[in-house]
Amino acid sequence: MEKGMNLKLKVWRQKSTADKGGIVDYNVNNVSPDMSFLEMIDVLNEDLVKKGDDPVAFDHDCREGICGMCSMFINGEAHGPNRGVTTCQLHMRSFKDGDTVYVEPWRSEGFPVIKDLMVNRGAFDRIQQAGGFVSVNTSGRTMDANAIPIPKEDADKAFDAATCIGCGACVATCPNGSAMLFVGAKVSQFALLPQGQVERKDRVLNMVKQMDEEGFGNCSNIGACEVQCPKNISLEVIARMNREYLTANVKPEN
Ligand code: SF4
Ligand code: FES
Repeated sequence: MEKGMNLKLKVWRQKSTADKGGIVDYNVNNVSPDMSFLEMIDVLNEDLVKKGDDPVAFDHDCREGICGMCSMFINGEAHGPNRGVTTCQLHMRSFKDGDTVYVEPWRSEGFPVIKDLMVNRGAFDRIQQAGGFVSVNTSGRTMDANAIPIPKEDADKAFDAATCIGCGACVATCPNGSAMLFVGAKVSQFALLPQGQVERKDRVLNMVKQMDEEGFGNCSNIGACEVQCPKNISLEVIARMNREYLTANVKPEN
């Protein structure tokens, strides 16, 4: 049987939000190139548990690029070295035998570390709750969504924006800690569709207000968020959100 890779891991360990935390060295041996990055951490954790040590805490759920939970910095890059994939979709074949790999949590004031690689992304939930939804009348006289004609170009753009999985890589990567790629994606998704028109103005005003209250920074067109976003969300969504915000602030004349 082919021998796997031996890796040196430098993993951020932090017992709690209040703990200072620090990097701890580990060796992981015989790693298959076909393993995902999370499976490699599973192997490390099995080893730690066998030794009676505390396993590394990390977030994960779907393990197929959908839930946005598996957020971590790998060698200083959000979701690791490959573009357009989440950590759970990153395979160990992207690394070489003998590599040293740094694994750290998101670094952002808006996402405090809970433990080790897990951060609290409640700020994103509160922004969503401020306006990232449509209210639908379920009285029985609801129009079938498929019966509402939508131009193909709008449907495609709305769909692209809707692929944002709320992972927070954009915030963690941005030197300003800006959440505008995330909020821009959520605002765009609804602004482009007829179903989003009723709450259009309130949505952008309320979501931006909540974003500011959470302490996220402003966009200064650096573009790192777009590069590191695992869903390739385009900076266009930020431009659209800014237009939406401006329009929503213009009061109609009486
Ligand atoms: S815009 Fe991209 S990086 Fe930001 S939360 Fe959405 S999927 Fe993650
Ligand atoms: S575990 Fe769900 S996106 Fe990675």
